[in-house]
Amino acid sequence: MLSKKMQDALNKQLRAEFYSGYLYLSMSACADSLGYQGVANWLKIQSLEEFAHADKFFNYISERGGRVLLAQISEPPQQWDDIPAIFDAVLEHEQKVTSMINELFEVAIEERDHAAKIFLQWFVEEQVEEENTVGAIIDRIKLAGNHPGSMLMMDKELGQRVFTPPAE
Ligand code: FEO
Repeated sequence: MLSKKMQDALNKQLRAEFYSGYLYLSMSACADSLGYQGVANWLKIQSLEEFAHADKFFNYISERGGRVLLAQISEPPQQWDDIPAIFDAVLEHEQKVTSMINELFEVAIEERDHAAKIFLQWFVEEQVEEENTVGAIIDRIKLAGNHPGSMLMMDKELGQRVFTPPAE
């Protein structure tokens, strides 16, 4: 059984994952409007991953005999100036999510909830990967500089990303 504090903290993160999905979907729409369909695809897949993260929290709360409590999801920003601005915002957001996951892990430690710590381990590792992937894209954007050819090549590459549901 989950403690009230642990349940509240897991529900808060569930909602944050939905917001992340919502934010990346908004970025995807913006990238599409800027003419970068590959980037739009990459961000759409990213949003699906976030919804899958939310689903992991949903299932876990229920599995532990807790109660899922949904709430309003804030409106995300709608517009970014260009593709570099979008990816800078993705990295900034993922860094924020990393600190949220770390805080959640701290709650599991305080509550002496060893099962929750094991569950959250997956997210701790996921955040390392998320920040690393986005950081690598930002490095490539910097290398591409103002060369439209390089940006278009990258767009084509990001367009090939497909959704793979996260492992249980
Ligand atoms: Fe759910 Fe991008 O972390």
